Amino acid sequence: MTEPVFVPQEVIRKKRDRVPLSAAELTDFVRGTVSGAVGPSQIGAFTMAVYLNGMSEDERLAYTLAMRDSGRVIDWSEIGLSGPTIIDKHSSGGVGDEKVSLIVVPLVAACGIHMPMISARGLGHTGGEIDLLDAIPGYDTTPSTERFMQVVAEVGGAIISPTPDLAPADKPIFYIRDVAATVESIPLITGSIMSKKLAAGINGLVMTVPFGSGAFMPDVARAEELAASLIGVAVGAGKPMVALISDLTEVLGDSIGSNNQLREVIDFLTGRYREPRLTETVLALASETLLMGGLTETIEDGRRLALARLDDGAAADRFAKMVAALDGPADLVDNPDRHLQRAQIIRPVFADTPGTVASQDCYAIGMAMLRLGCGRTDPDADIDHAVGLTGMASCGSTVGPDRPLCVVHARSEAAFEAAAADIRAAVVVREPPVITTPPIVGRLAGKPAADASATVERAAD
Ligand code: URA
Repeated sequence: MTEPVFVPQEVIRKKRDRVPLSAAELTDFVRGTVSGAVGPSQIGAFTMAVYLNGMSEDERLAYTLAMRDSGRVIDWSEIGLSGPTIIDKHSSGGVGDEKVSLIVVPLVAACGIHMPMISARGLGHTGGEIDLLDAIPGYDTTPSTERFMQVVAEVGGAIISPTPDLAPADKPIFYIRDVAATVESIPLITGSIMSKKLAAGINGLVMTVPFGSGAFMPDVARAEELAASLIGVAVGAGKPMVALISDLTEVLGDSIGSNNQLREVIDFLTGRYREPRLTETVLALASETLLMGGLTETIEDGRRLALARLDDGAAADRFAKMVAALDGPADLVDNPDRHLQRAQIIRPVFADTPGTVASQDCYAIGMAMLRLGCGRTDPDADIDHAVGLTGMASCGSTVGPDRPLCVVHARSEAAFEAAAADIRAAVVVREPPVITTPPIVGRLAGKPAADASATVERAAD
């Protein structure tokens, strides 16, 4: 008997018409995105159909497993590693939030965790870890799987992109979603994130799921919905997971853009400057990871251990080793200016009237940064690592003639003026009092139960 011929448009038509898709259909479609049997226009149409019509729980799990199985799944026992300390972290994405991984991975590695992170580049109005790492001269974001495993075993952590060997289907689908307005879809985000995490062969996952104008989920309820979807797939695949609901109604940390955020990471790790909301986010993720890995017994102990490894320089040292192990410069932490180019124009943007920052429209700020060169409108385009902003005034801070809203890094006068106008329009400044919110507002967790069904706990911080 001959095999039935796979017809991609039939899968798209079914999703368009809300006909449930089988695991076999989803697997054929996902495989086709890697083999070329499914073309870019068909990926765009499929992702739009999913964006509009969603996916059932069964479809989500089948889609994620098909994406995971588009490549290899790492088996750490091949190199003698096993146990609960093999944990990954991720974020569902937010403005300024991609730098968090570059701090948390070396930090928890310095505490005894093994963190093999397969990450992503910028998506929509947000940035991605891979863009930051691609800005480091020489850093290899697509090493062989053997090399990735070796670096994780030796250094304790590494961050790489999907490769032709690991979750390869994420790349073609992700690239099209970015430019086809199909980013903010819970099933597509779930498949993209969880396929990479499961391909890394982890034994647990800790994530932030941000909400607000800087994120893909507009409010806490939708962020919890996404967290529950991610946890459902994690538990379905037999992994425990914690999701921290994080507030991205303002830029996380004080910079945007690859080189600016790399400098912020280095300043954070070396203790030169730690923006308070970024510190809280880092410590929350690190302490949950240490607890899940069995290295500490309480969240408080985890915070203390993580702070100690930051303050004694062990985390900065791990970061330097991770960069060097993947062919980046060994002296990046000591000499960032030797390796990270700056833009021609670096100039403050002042508010029209002095006052207190009451709110930031992070979507507008993210899009202003994309137009400046930090993001893409063409999936194959390079981004400009030198541009972006620094010194972002957080909500509740006073701005005026002595304190700008931020400093814009641009390539030309016209680009500076356009970004400055967008930022002034995006930041509301008024008389106090203003209401500020904590960076982490909730926690959902799930672990595989003896009967393999999902148990999701909710807890407000
Ligand atoms: N991060 C990912 O890896 N994928 C998404 O879809 C969103 C954030």
